[in-house]
Amino acid sequence: MRGIILAGGSGTRLRPLTSVHSKQLLPVYDKPMIYYPLSVLMQAGITEVLVISAPEHLDSYRALLGDGERLGVSLSYTVQQKPAGIAEALVLGGEFADGEGICLILGDNIFYGHRLPDMLRAEAARLDGCTLFGYPVSDPERYGVATVDEAGTIVTLEEKPTAPRSNLAVTGLYMYDGDAVRRAAELTPSDRGELEITDLNLTYVREDRARLVNLGRGSAWFDTGTHDSLLEAAMFVQVLEKRQGIRISCLEEVAYRMGYIDREQLALLGKELSSSSGYGQYVMELASA
Ligand code: G1P
Repeated sequence: MRGIILAGGSGTRLRPLTSVHSKQLLPVYDKPMIYYPLSVLMQAGITEVLVISAPEHLDSYRALLGDGERLGVSLSYTVQQKPAGIAEALVLGGEFADGEGICLILGDNIFYGHRLPDMLRAEAARLDGCTLFGYPVSDPERYGVATVDEAGTIVTLEEKPTAPRSNLAVTGLYMYDGDAVRRAAELTPSDRGELEITDLNLTYVREDRARLVNLGRGSAWFDTGTHDSLLEAAMFVQVLEKRQGIRISCLEEVAYRMGYIDREQLALLGKELSSSSGYGQYVMELASA
């Protein structure tokens, strides 16, 4: 399975923070936002990842993450000319996917949960059609909303319904079989001119081949689309990290623990980050533990 991170969009709701910066490079406490979704993919065992962003921002992602070799993974980059919908990521990533299964994640979605990596690996192994990940929220009308049967098969799926049939929001993490690229290319743009991810997912729902896994109350999911949710996500990370003395979504640590790099490489990364940064210090300490 290959990974795609969609880090596009114009971030209008976050201006002026996003007037010159790409939203998914904004800080979430101690690291750029894109570290969080990239760490989810890496922990799911995915080592080939495509980053999609706007033409004016793509070079910043390249400068930050490079070709991934330092982290023992392979990163490539593609431009999304204008925000034309989440499903367009699959069209743009078609060549990269090369017929394989795809795990698509939105660059502004933050997931946390100690069972998440195992769950993602298990879901990737049993994938048939598409698998979505749901999260119970108090304001489902802001999201895609699903209802499921006892087996977890999606029965209804609606985008931002005025009268939600459940409190299960569809998060920005999706797994697809190799057919998704073709399906996405056949979608017609919605009234707002976008290729809607919910329309793609509905093609699988109609065939009873769409599954929803409820991430449940033991995990955290933030989208960082507003000033408040951005700050809340940062505070969540700060509280956990300070209390436990750990770092969440530290790419260097994930690469090491997943066996993508060895201890020597980890030490080198720590040195590059500098001991004057608490994050750098953490990486160095891991390497010498
Ligand atoms: C998009 C999807 C929606 C999903 C949400 C998750 O909404 O269309 O189904 O629940 O991402 O973040 P948007 O953020 O584009 O409004």
